[in-house]
Amino acid sequence: MSNNQKESLFVRAAFSQPTERPPVWMMRQAGRFMKEYWDIKNRYSFLEMCKTPEIAADVTMLPVDLLGIDAAILFSDILVTAEAMGGDLSFTQGVGPRFSNPVRNSADVDKLETDVMDRLKYVADAIVVIQQRLNGLIPLIGFAGAPFTVMSYLVEGGSSKDFKLTKLMLHNEPELAHRLLSKIADVTTAYLNLQIDAGVNAVQIFDSWAGALSWDDYQEFSHSYIARIISGLKRKDIPVISFCKGSSVFAPLMAQTKPDVISVDWNADLLSVKKSLPSGIAVQGNLDPHILYADKKVIRERILRLYEKMKDEPGFIFNLGHGIMPDIPFDHVKYAVEVIKNELKKA
Ligand code: CP3
Repeated sequence: MSNNQKESLFVRAAFSQPTERPPVWMMRQAGRFMKEYWDIKNRYSFLEMCKTPEIAADVTMLPVDLLGIDAAILFSDILVTAEAMGGDLSFTQGVGPRFSNPVRNSADVDKLETDVMDRLKYVADAIVVIQQRLNGLIPLIGFAGAPFTVMSYLVEGGSSKDFKLTKLMLHNEPELAHRLLSKIADVTTAYLNLQIDAGVNAVQIFDSWAGALSWDDYQEFSHSYIARIISGLKRKDIPVISFCKGSSVFAPLMAQTKPDVISVDWNADLLSVKKSLPSGIAVQGNLDPHILYADKKVIRERILRLYEKMKDEPGFIFNLGHGIMPDIPFDHVKYAVEVIKNELKKA
């Protein structure tokens, strides 16, 4: 039996079909804001969690069981592709991701491997276990990082505030940057297809740091590679979601790559973005995650306010403009999901 989840609230909204209420899930819905995450995290390293299918499945299921969201997202990280290509990746508490062998010159780019799907087989295995656990309840979203965002971690050697070295490479050595981006794009396309073959019901591409780029640089160094990835996907009947921090500005370019859904950051007026897009492209977003720190009456009021704008639009998936922060109170997140599920019914 195929488990394409075509009838689910989430997939219908992603394909801009009418739904009784907007589906809801939240970026970073499985993570440190949950006590149950720490119960697991205290026993394993983050990469061990990603690489052990049973553990990745346990963590993926936490928000399904504890929050009742309408879509699960694979527990993994956008940097596993870069690791498979040869990046020496570690995650340290309080520091975040680090590559001890940053990619800074032509020889470094040459060293990166692209025939690496064998090394990512643990992800396919995790997807199979997760789908067994979900047992058709809700769809599973797979994901990968967009080439520019992944490149930034490889070049900087970790997180960065200003992406100085990455932008220097774009500006001083554009051919080298293109060679690097091209390698990442090839791996990313194969990696998302591996996830599709393993059974995910949607895929999301995360371009978390594209907002650091000018329009021209976004077009040349990010947009073109996302277009290449999306056109290389075995889409079948699986929705493709494109997320970018900066989508308030770049949405017109993002639309050209023909995703089914654009995930919008919180700066934008979501209805204006939706109305500016070609019909058939849904939007996902875009509550400021900081709202979830606020009092419950504020959370409820802001959710109702966003819905009031969006209620007549088919193709609206409730989400945040970016991920949940680790110190957001769990009961606030749970409350937000309840408000969305219980109060946003169509008349
Ligand atoms: O959304 C989910 O619940 C699914 C799992 C998921 C993680 N990372 C788990 C994670 C997803 C979809 C990601 C994507 C990811 N990873 C992005 C894109 C999304 C975004 O937030 O913009 C980025 C930029 C990364 C890179 C990354 N991974 C950073 C910068 C960090 C450290 C800082 C931080 O926010 O945690 C990680 C580690 C990471 N990825 C953790 C989790 C649960 C924390 C690991 C820990 O427990 O220490």
